[in-house]
Amino acid sequence: MDHLLRRPRRLRHHSTIRSLVRETSLVPADFIMPLFICHGKEIRMPIGSMPGVSRLSVDVAVQECRELWELGVPAVILFGIPDHKDATGSEGYDDNGIIQQAVRAIKEALPQLIVITDVCLCEYTDHGHCGVIVNGDVDNDTTVELLVREAVSHARAGADMVAPSDMMDGRVGAIREGLDGNGFSHLPLMSYAVKYCSAFYGPFRDAADSTPQFGDRKTYQMDPANAREAMVEAALDVEEGADILMVKPAMPYLDIISQLRENFSLPLAAYHVSGEYAMIKAAGQNGWLDADAAMTEALLSIKRAGADIILSYYAKEFAQNFRQYS
Ligand code: PBG
Repeated sequence: MDHLLRRPRRLRHHSTIRSLVRETSLVPADFIMPLFICHGKEIRMPIGSMPGVSRLSVDVAVQECRELWELGVPAVILFGIPDHKDATGSEGYDDNGIIQQAVRAIKEALPQLIVITDVCLCEYTDHGHCGVIVNGDVDNDTTVELLVREAVSHARAGADMVAPSDMMDGRVGAIREGLDGNGFSHLPLMSYAVKYCSAFYGPFRDAADSTPQFGDRKTYQMDPANAREAMVEAALDVEEGADILMVKPAMPYLDIISQLRENFSLPLAAYHVSGEYAMIKAAGQNGWLDADAAMTEALLSIKRAGADIILSYYAKEFAQNFRQYS
């Protein structure tokens, strides 16, 4: 054994050598922090299934954004919890809706922070589906018209980027056209291009009270069994004008992230979703694993697979730990 030529352990003995040869790194600048915004004042209402995550009123959200910015997290994505839900999700495209109010307040306080808005109707509809129901299913083209109104309304409020998450066909192109026609041709669009119909959204639906009241989302979100279809969805969104592509969820779909990385040159985002976050937090609370180490490992795997940007509820904690240990 004296003359074993290849000994990979040579590069593992010293921690500084390990860091010299490290291939992937995570920094706060990689992250987008999702925030749930509700009506009212001075509200920080914890979400049971997402330890450490709360619904925030606009004033508290501004404070939270200030802390995130100071910690080096460059962007937030906002989800609205409306006062009023109806069949067509009208608070979603109301210029005075909860998200529009939040965008105005956050941008006024922190002009440098990037404020992205999630464009979808499921938080605003009384039936919990992502669009308008016609004959028992979400009607694609009627829904797209409302999504365009929602995106333009977010842009008017001052959003820096819009992110449609509804999975209607043709919505990226329609939103692009709507933005361009209203003086927002400079505004980037991050498309939830590859969004699977996933059980890992459970805690989010608790938080946003957006569980479908009947049926499921299988007629619009993708079948978890499909990989080639992800390439079709991504190619369509590129053609329609998307600036950033997203894969969601992240960890169960690392193969898809890596395939998108190989096949497309646009920046790639991945959403480490509520259920992925909740699993690790719950195991940590039970003492079954070290949640911070497991979370960092999970997020690193997403970056290693090829994501440039990670949407994660852990962004703030990551940035806090990063500051403490580096
Ligand atoms: C809205 C939307 C959802 C998520 C992001 N945007 C929920 C859904 O599709 O049911 C889920 C995010 C998460 O689970 O963290 N359509």
